[in-house]
Parts: sequence; C-alpha cells; structure tokens
Amino acid sequence: MRARGKRRNHPGGQISWSTAAGSVANRSVSVMGLAFANPLGLAAGVDRTGELVPSLCSHGFGHVEVGTITQETRLAGSLGRSMSGTIVGANIGSALPGLSEQVIEDYTTTLRQVVGLSDYVVANLSAPALHRDGDMPGIEKLVKRLSAVRDVLSAVVGRRVPLLLKLAAGSHGTNFPAAIMAARVSGLDGIVLVSNCLSRIGAISTYLDGLVVISVGDVRSADDVRARINAGAALVQVHSAYANGGSARIRRILKELTPTTRYP
Ligand SMILES: Cc1cc2nc3c(=O)[nH]c(=O)nc-3n(C[C@H](O)[C@H](O)[C@H](O)COP(=O)(O)O)c2cc1C
Repeated sequence: MRARGKRRNHPGGQISWSTAAGSVANRSVSVMGLAFANPLGLAAGVDRTGELVPSLCSHGFGHVEVGTITQETRLAGSLGRSMSGTIVGANIGSALPGLSEQVIEDYTTTLRQVVGLSDYVVANLSAPALHRDGDMPGIEKLVKRLSAVRDVLSAVVGRRVPLLLKLAAGSHGTNFPAAIMAARVSGLDGIVLVSNCLSRIGAISTYLDGLVVISVGDVRSADDVRARINAGAALVQVHSAYANGGSARIRRILKELTPTTRYP
C-alpha cells in the first residue's frame, strides 16, 4: 500500500512515496534500468576484489559495490551479477595519481574487464590522495572516453550498463557544476555523492537533470536513509555503519525501513 504524501519522481523511472513524517512505504527502487529490492547498499571499500560478494549479498543489501578495482586488483572469480537478487556494482579507478593519459587508460581498461561481471559501474574520483577532482579538462576527457567505451561494450553484452561518477562534495578541488555537466553531456547515468550535508545533497540534486543520485557518507540509521531519499537520492549507501556494526546493524536499518518485511 502506498503511503499518503509527497510523490517524488526520480530520474530513470523510479517513483517513491514519502510522508511528511518521512516514512517511505514503497521500498523497491527501479532506476537506471535496474530493479533494486531496497534503497540500501554497501559502499565501495569493504570488498575490493569481489571475494566477499556471496556473504555480503546475504545481509539483505539492495546493492553491493565492489572496489575500488584497479589494474593491480586480482579480481575474485565470484564478482558475479545479481546474486540472490542483490545488484552488484563495480567501482573502478587507477592506483596512479592525477588524470594523465595513463590513468585514463587504466580506467578504460578496467571498465572493459568488469563490464560483463557487474550490473553497474562507478568511476571513482573521490579518493582525496589521488588528486583527480581539481582537473576539469581531465575529468571531461575521462568521462567522454568511459562513456564511449561503455556504449560499445553495452552493445557487445546486450544490455545498457549504467555508468556513474563518484564525487566527494566536501572536496575543495571539485568544480561540481562542471563535473556534473560533463557527466550529463556524456550520457552518464548518475552520481555517487559523498556528503553528509542534507542541504548540499538537496541543492546538487536540483541541477542533476536526469542523473540518479546515490548518497553516501555518515548514514547510520533508517532515519538517515529516509532523510537522504527525501533530499533527492534514489539510493543510499553505508560503509562505516557496516564496518563498525556488522550485519546486525544492517538488519536493524532494513527492519526499521520496512517493518513488515523479513530480512535474513
Ligand atoms: C577504510 C575505508 C576504505 C575505503 N575504500 C574505498 C574505496 O576503495 N573506494 C571508494 O570509492 N570508496 C572507499 N571508501 C569510501 C566509502 O565508500 C564511503 O564513501 C565513505 O566511507 C563515506 O561513507 P561512511 O560515512 O558510511 O563511511 C573507503 C572508506 C573507508 C573508511
């Protein structure tokens, strides 16, 4: 049954319903051509090789993002797609700093390697130590190149593989409007937005014009998940909440989001 309240249309076809009190009744989320069983996912950094995917999927996450995968990563054979109904994303990057031609080549080579193994791909620009976010011409070049490679590979694998950028909103170097414009112009599907500031998430969501937002950063409770969705995010990720609280914390959040649904 739908909750009464504000109807929020998310790009890519997802519709959720929220009340003034912030409860979200319809938990399944369809965006970017993918059906997520619930909006809560595991952020990159917990499983960098895919070896934990089977056990992580059993915790009830709607999606699990593996990575960051680089040319140095030895991928586990089990990366797999859509295990037990969980969407599996691949977060890609390069071990080298900056956005040189070699770094862009690393991203595109890794994209080719993971595209058949994952439901969606995220190009990570959020690592502060790698100094990529201030280089706007580099970002434009990277996004254009990745998008072109994604289009070719999508034709090969017979499905459109969603491609997103992961950006940190707190980073001083990021020219957000320009980075998002580059993503829009190149036909990317969304932004994984690292920020714990609701007003910032809301402000950025207003000029995304069709791009999906996955919100990550300081999400610890079902209330946090609801707040991010109400600010404009289609999906929400946790890292520290899982790293510190384990599967019990995830079960509790999911239970609070949908009290009538049983999670493993
Ligand atoms: C130990 C650690 C390792 C991480 N490794 C990655 C990574 O490899 N790739 C990535 O995109 N983000 C990585 N992150 C960032 C997280 O995915 C997430 O964006 C960030 O921790 C904010 O979420 P949280 O407040 O829930 O922890 C890492 C974070 C931590 C704490």
